[in-house]
Amino acid sequence: MFDIENFDLKLNTEIIGRNFIYIEEIDSTNTFLLDRQNKIEISGTVVLAEKQTKGRGRKDRVWYSTKEQNLTFSILLLKDYRLFNHLNLINFSASLAVANSIENLYQLKTELKWPNDVLINKKKTCGILLESSSLGNKIDRVVVGIGVNVNQSMFQGQFNYPPTSIRIELGREVEREKLLAEILNNLEFYLSKIPTETDYITREWKERCRMIGEKIYVKEGELIKNGIFDDIDNEGFLLLRTKDGIEKITIGDVSIV
Ligand code: BTN
Repeated sequence: MFDIENFDLKLNTEIIGRNFIYIEEIDSTNTFLLDRQNKIEISGTVVLAEKQTKGRGRKDRVWYSTKEQNLTFSILLLKDYRLFNHLNLINFSASLAVANSIENLYQLKTELKWPNDVLINKKKTCGILLESSSLGNKIDRVVVGIGVNVNQSMFQGQFNYPPTSIRIELGREVEREKLLAEILNNLEFYLSKIPTETDYITREWKERCRMIGEKIYVKEGELIKNGIFDDIDNEGFLLLRTKDGIEKITIGDVSIV
């Protein structure tokens, strides 16, 4: 059982998580916050679910997470147009927030995988799904969905990337309340940098990505592109060096050759 009071004591934010909704079971925390009919209109609202019956991953994949073991939550950002011009950097901020929190609290070395996975020992411990909705032709609602494998001790089934959890890597259970508060504290800090210091985010992100300079392939559906992971541009897109020059990659799964 998640102890909301304990979480609240550790939360140091001004906005993110100040409106906190705890739900035992839901289809998906992202779907819930994206749906305007649920009338959640406070920016920074965080919805945490102990179980998702239709947890969603990137590219229509399913996000599996054992009930009450992990953190599956979403953050709502409303009408923050200074941020909404930089959706990729919101993604980067979320993965940096999770990676930093894991390193600070448990001294586990993390690595970031483009665009937004957090790895420990080359295995995935966190996935992020950013979704938005528009009024007219302007994005006014962004939902950042984060799934962190925290205390799950085993994973069964088929995964796009080998999964792990903090517990598996650390050898002991950890306190979810403390971890969630730390992630949100870090996230508010990184988001505050986006409007004025985009390069701060990309710099920090690059420091944690060990794939830069490596031979990679990028899979987008059936399409596979080979090249060298040259760099990340100012907006967080991957620059792939191929025999024809530099190609900007906006979507796809990256693997080392
Ligand atoms: C991925 O790596 O494919 C992204 C996974 C994102 C999972 C989280 S769990 C909370 C939120 N609600 C969802 O349905 N998905 C995200």
